[in-house]
Amino acid sequence: MTDSLRIGVVSLFPDMVQDAAHCGVTGRAFETGLASLKCMNPRRFTSDAHQTVDDRPYGGGPGMVLKAEPFAAAIGSLKEEMPAAPVVFLTPQGRRFDQQTAREMATLPELILVAGRYEGFDERLTDAYADDELSIGDFVLSGGELAALAVIDAVVRLLPGALGDELSAEQDSFGAGLLDYPHYTRPEGFAGRQVPEVLASGNHAQIARWRLKQALGRTWLRRPDLLEGRELTAEEQDLLQEFVAEYNAGQTDG
Ligand code: 6GU
Repeated sequence: MTDSLRIGVVSLFPDMVQDAAHCGVTGRAFETGLASLKCMNPRRFTSDAHQTVDDRPYGGGPGMVLKAEPFAAAIGSLKEEMPAAPVVFLTPQGRRFDQQTAREMATLPELILVAGRYEGFDERLTDAYADDELSIGDFVLSGGELAALAVIDAVVRLLPGALGDELSAEQDSFGAGLLDYPHYTRPEGFAGRQVPEVLASGNHAQIARWRLKQALGRTWLRRPDLLEGRELTAEEQDLLQEFVAEYNAGQTDG
């Protein structure tokens, strides 16, 4: 298949990446050939008996620094198969990964992700090889593998055919720049709470209106920053005003 996305990952824990990526939606995408995944361990590109991939930092201080040469060689070997791939490093210093970047990556033919460990990479490796540097949030992981897996999942599920229902990718949170609306299934009552009446009404226009109102309201409550960067239509402004009015009424009289 020529249209599929070829993903390469440079990691000291290739099994961790392969095992996790082969579960669920991403696993099926790799099995059906929508995408492919090749992991390369920099340890294979060492020449000393101990297969050393890290060393003490120049200038002193705690921790170890990942050596440039084995990572450069691992990237180079993936590049031979994926010459068009941008090389993206996963580090806490990167720019924040988001749905827009996932959408852009899902249009690429090839992608190389580089996961680090310990105190990080020798700066000259990123200087010389990084086309981009991404972080998945303001917290510290012990390695870039989980971040690379987050990127792989977010990107691969957007590939046409990856999800059973093609509508679901765009209906998820962030599809429209908003958080998702609440979902319910049977039973009708649970823990003293009923399914909102409108959802069982069969009135699809009213259901769509309710869902959009909930999506706007939740985004306003939980992630107001997302609304800053988004124009609201006249209908959306009305729905959000309704939500806010009901919310404020509920806050004061219970
Ligand atoms: Cl990309 N790497 C590490 N080590 N920690 C992170 C991260 C990446 N993104 C958030 N925390």
